[in-house]
Amino acid sequence: MLAVADVAMNGKSFHIITFGCQMNANDSWWLASSLAERGFTRTGLEDARVVVLNTCSVREKPERKVAAALAEVRRVTGGDPGVLVVVAGCVAQQMGEKLFSPESQVRLLVGSDGLARAPEAIERLLAEPQERCCLLDFSVGYEERKAVRAAAGPVAQVNIIQGCDNFCAYCIVPFTRGRQKSRRAEDILEECRARLDGGAREILLLGQNVNAYNRDRQGDGTSFASLLERVATLPGLVRLRYVTAHPRDMRPEDVAAFGNVPALCPRLHLPLQSGSDNVLKRMGRKYDSRTFLDLARRLREARPDMALSTDIIAGFPGESEKDFEDTLAIMETCEFVSSFSFCYSDRPGTRAALMPDKTAPTVSLERLSRLQALQDALTRRLLADRVGRKTDILIEGRSRRQPPGKTSWRGRDPYGVVVNLVLEGQGDYTGKMAPVLITRAKRHSLAAEPAGDMW
Ligand code: SAH
Ligand code: SF4
Ligand code: F3S
Repeated sequence: MLAVADVAMNGKSFHIITFGCQMNANDSWWLASSLAERGFTRTGLEDARVVVLNTCSVREKPERKVAAALAEVRRVTGGDPGVLVVVAGCVAQQMGEKLFSPESQVRLLVGSDGLARAPEAIERLLAEPQERCCLLDFSVGYEERKAVRAAAGPVAQVNIIQGCDNFCAYCIVPFTRGRQKSRRAEDILEECRARLDGGAREILLLGQNVNAYNRDRQGDGTSFASLLERVATLPGLVRLRYVTAHPRDMRPEDVAAFGNVPALCPRLHLPLQSGSDNVLKRMGRKYDSRTFLDLARRLREARPDMALSTDIIAGFPGESEKDFEDTLAIMETCEFVSSFSFCYSDRPGTRAALMPDKTAPTVSLERLSRLQALQDALTRRLLADRVGRKTDILIEGRSRRQPPGKTSWRGRDPYGVVVNLVLEGQGDYTGKMAPVLITRAKRHSLAAEPAGDMW
């Protein structure tokens, strides 16, 4: 086996730093696996000849975060021109060649559609230290990536659609990920089969707006609901989830799937953004509070134990105190089990950036903390309700903290909540389905004890 120092000498070592959403995390996983198949070794930043920053520009000064990360790379590597720095993801797409400043070590820029060609480009640029390369063009169709064999644990994330056509007024994603492009159902199923053969038991289908699957010119006509049915019947699959849903694009058959596709978990991340009809209209979300509430009700009709989570923006331009209170009210009605919430931030090129009547940062922050306090109370109540119930968890790996003399394992219940389980045995239980009894609720997770044989 090569020592890390030898790996660094032969140039086939890499380090990836990832920001942003699950699509970015999955892109980083694919790139790391592809580089490993080409003989690269993953190392710490100090020893890497190739450093990849996979970036996100969805909110709050991403350019500054990337500049800080690049400065850190420069500090740790001493600015060594032999280190190839790659900026991938949404900031690369947004800022483009500005990232090639004379003092930066950046020689490769990769957008979401260019990722498929990144491993070859990395090898070429290592051999040609004077060259730079941009893989920032958007392609017309979904850009298929070479399959990788690497095992990725019990939960396989599989892309089904790239980009987004919704152009919500505040959002930069349609500009950074490009227009919506659906992946062919056969290619999706093939990747799912391979990942299940490799030991995965849960599949998480990914996209910025999965419910719009195949509602673009590139698609092969398969509807999202029938894709779910086809994935759900693959041998070896125990659980199926997807993210992100868009309330406007959820068709009746997508709702019905929660009742008639048993593998589909009773948990849906359904971004609300605001509970005010005025704000939703200006955001261009194309639904109102009544249709959102009706959708939540229909989802719970299809699956009575359905758990919903959401995203909320505080302080969108023109948001009044009354608008904000409408958001709090709908959060209580929907009983979200968790939410990601953010202060609105201007993103370049978006419609909202040009809107007058910006909310003062102090007001946005105050609203954000009120909605987070409400969410904490909701989460606490919903998690406390679970104590004393039996459920199954899929074990994803070891917990962060280990008790003396035993082992603690981290899994998720069908509602997507993290559950920690302490076991006497010292074996590896990753990938097991464990029947458990929930014994304690913590702030964002649950604790459980074994309640049957694992399978
Ligand atoms: N495709 C998903 C999420 C995309 S971005 C969807 O449609 O919901 C993830 C979240 O970031 C969004 O749901 C939104 O809540 C938040 N977000 C996006 N742009 C933002 C901005 N300019 N300011 C603050 N939050 C933003
Ligand atoms: Fe952004 Fe809206 Fe598309 Fe989500 S649906 S990625 S918020 S434009
Ligand atoms: Fe961020 Fe791009 Fe994802 S902006 S949220 S990394 S699609």
